[in-house]
Amino acid sequence: VVEFSLRPRFLREYIGQSRVKENLEVYIEAAKQRNETLDHVLLYGPPGLGKTTLSHIIANEMGVQVRTTSGPAIERPGDLAAILTNLQAGDLLFIDEIHRLNRSVEEVLYPAMEDFALDIVIGKGPSARSVRLDLAPFTLVGATTRAGSLSSPLRDRFGVVSRLEYYTVEELALIVSRSADLLGVRIHEDGAEEIACRARGTPRVANRLLKRVRDFVEVQGDGIITADSARGALGRIQVDRLGLDEVDHKLLRSIMEMFRGGPVGLETIAATIGEESHTVEDVYEPYLMQIGFLQRTPRGRVVTPRCYQHFGVEMPDS
Ligand code: ADE
Repeated sequence: VVEFSLRPRFLREYIGQSRVKENLEVYIEAAKQRNETLDHVLLYGPPGLGKTTLSHIIANEMGVQVRTTSGPAIERPGDLAAILTNLQAGDLLFIDEIHRLNRSVEEVLYPAMEDFALDIVIGKGPSARSVRLDLAPFTLVGATTRAGSLSSPLRDRFGVVSRLEYYTVEELALIVSRSADLLGVRIHEDGAEEIACRARGTPRVANRLLKRVRDFVEVQGDGIITADSARGALGRIQVDRLGLDEVDHKLLRSIMEMFRGGPVGLETIAATIGEESHTVEDVYEPYLMQIGFLQRTPRGRVVTPRCYQHFGVEMPDS
């Protein structure tokens, strides 16, 4: 059994995010020409749009090693100091969910990013003093779903800040076709489009749907993904025409049916459907807002007339 990755490894294989990609190409080329490390890069945007993939691509293009960690995994300043002192010259350090670093850890990062230095305090009380340790030059790539929750001193230390956008259906169809080739499953163009339409603008979702559709066509069909066989399989796993799944349905229906369409607070919605409020906010809501089904107002979440239409539910009289 071979497990392999559908992730592209180089920029030329990467589909979509054309502006981010074209600019990164220039920065990478410039750094290579000057024989320097690439400036620190902050990638932000909704989950599943390729932040981790891009960080590995940057490392591959620069020809350097990547070390991966995440905000919540680095609990104390010493944890980060250990990681930083183990980096080799040129390495890329990827910190996922960088908005979840705590303040004391963040403060270790500032001199590390700016001067490739680590300030260590030795001793306690009046005899305490600070010693500066040199670090190997490195590139920090930070990823976050919320650039707004990053402190400004941290955000300001990134030379490149790139926002990833939801992918178009055309781009997702190309990604699905590429992945189908890698998985060795036959797919028609309209089959790829059918999956792309329901992928919520997100390659991670597209590839997951592709794998499930492949299961159905291989076990219960002729092994070929067409518009028809894709539609059948997607119906079976309860993903609707807009790519909304059971959790989306539960979330929207509970606002319509229990809270008269809102406004209702995030915590209340999360408790009602049994999900973490962070998950609701970072994973489910961005796409529902993007398709105009949900709005965030100062008084809470509100569903729109378009949402009522999609579900065929009468709007309450106001
Ligand atoms: N697989 C996942 N994301 C991709 C992308 N942006 N381009 C190509 N293949 C992908």
